[in-house]
Amino acid sequence: MLSISVNLGLPRVPNLVTSLPGPRAQAIIERDRAVTSPSYTRDYPLVVARGEGCMVEDVDGNVFLDMTAGIAVTNTGHAHPEVVAAIQAQSAQLLHMSGTDFYYEPMVELAEKLAVRAPFPQGAKVFFTNSGAESNEGAIKLARYYTKRSHIVAFLGAFHGRTYGAMSLTGSKAVQRANFGPFVPGVTHIPYGTHASLDYLEKQLFPTILPPEEIAAIVVEAIQGEGGYIVPESGFLPRIRDICDRYGILMVVDEVQSGMGRTGRLFAIEHWGVMPDIITTAKGIASGLPLGAILSRPELMTWPPGAHATTFGGNPVACVAGIATLRLLEDGLITNASQMGELLQAGLTQLHQRFPRLSLPRGKGLMVAVDLLDEEGNLDRHMRDRIIQEAFLRGLLLLGCGKAAIRFCPPLIIDSNQIQIGLDILADILGS
Ligand SMILES: Cc1ncc(COP(=O)(O)O)c(C=O)c1O
Repeated sequence: MLSISVNLGLPRVPNLVTSLPGPRAQAIIERDRAVTSPSYTRDYPLVVARGEGCMVEDVDGNVFLDMTAGIAVTNTGHAHPEVVAAIQAQSAQLLHMSGTDFYYEPMVELAEKLAVRAPFPQGAKVFFTNSGAESNEGAIKLARYYTKRSHIVAFLGAFHGRTYGAMSLTGSKAVQRANFGPFVPGVTHIPYGTHASLDYLEKQLFPTILPPEEIAAIVVEAIQGEGGYIVPESGFLPRIRDICDRYGILMVVDEVQSGMGRTGRLFAIEHWGVMPDIITTAKGIASGLPLGAILSRPELMTWPPGAHATTFGGNPVACVAGIATLRLLEDGLITNASQMGELLQAGLTQLHQRFPRLSLPRGKGLMVAVDLLDEEGNLDRHMRDRIIQEAFLRGLLLLGCGKAAIRFCPPLIIDSNQIQIGLDILADILGS
């Protein structure tokens, strides 16, 4: 049985020993400003030196409780010893050979393990990538290739990545698309998560400007991530499956953020018992190494050699990290995500009762969000931003999502004590 608690020596969290940012952090941020792209979205001045479990230590020795997992990536916790050991052993043996042109076992082994666990009727075929955007990019290509159709339906609020194909599906924030057009043609966005939206698709768009026989894929997040951790209305995802079945459209589910155990199932779509045609994943798949995957029903991957390939995707070091990650997820972390998620939502519900400007929580497993509201009950983005800043100054790392939401996406290894610490810090801020 897996030991959930991995704490090899960092002090109790949080443990702040300087004002923030400390002097070393300030110096690095100055250097960063001079040489890195201004497009990165740093919400607060955290300069990380080390991570362990749910804790990260900055360059000045301040220790933080991490409820971001590096944007939902370090699912097994920072530097899980089993993941690190697998990476170390593989690095000493083979760093790279390119799975596009050659074979090596870690790539096959991870594909075998994912194929067994993919929620398809008969196994899966796997194409490895380096990121979520690249997984979605490849999924669009596969869907168009297989169906010989060009149109794609995506959703407002969706985030699928920043490369041209993935960005063309993204419908989250104007800044992510402004001045980058023209986009990949053939993408139609409709509102996310409601039956009203699917009514609009079926009753208004299909008979007028979007014949369903010309649609290659409907690309949907099982739970909308960047858009605000929005759980769709009951029946929404099964209805998309039904529409796809009726018109020969492929259902592509983006599980880049919601997958790999985060919601208490390996893939969030499993909560609805829906079998998609293609799943895209990345982020948590290798606990922090750059890896992504396109999983498809085996019969869909008909593209010939050369149609799609990548130099680095499925790198052997990333693949062994993926194998160790999957083992740890199935050995207890998925269950832990479910249990800790319930605790977190219960705690946030209590906070909502004390502080009505915090909405009720939503989400599944450890993919949880709350909105901040003003006195009239409207979304209050400024208050959200202020709370995230204040949490940082008190040693709690949080991220925003949606218009005014705080997202909680800690490593899946988090324990009840750490959940309580996070809730207490939030309560202190709201009460101050
Ligand atoms: C649902 C979803 N899809 C795709 C992506 C893009 O992933 P990446 O940043 O690895 O390209 C993200 C990133 O936040 C995401 O949340």
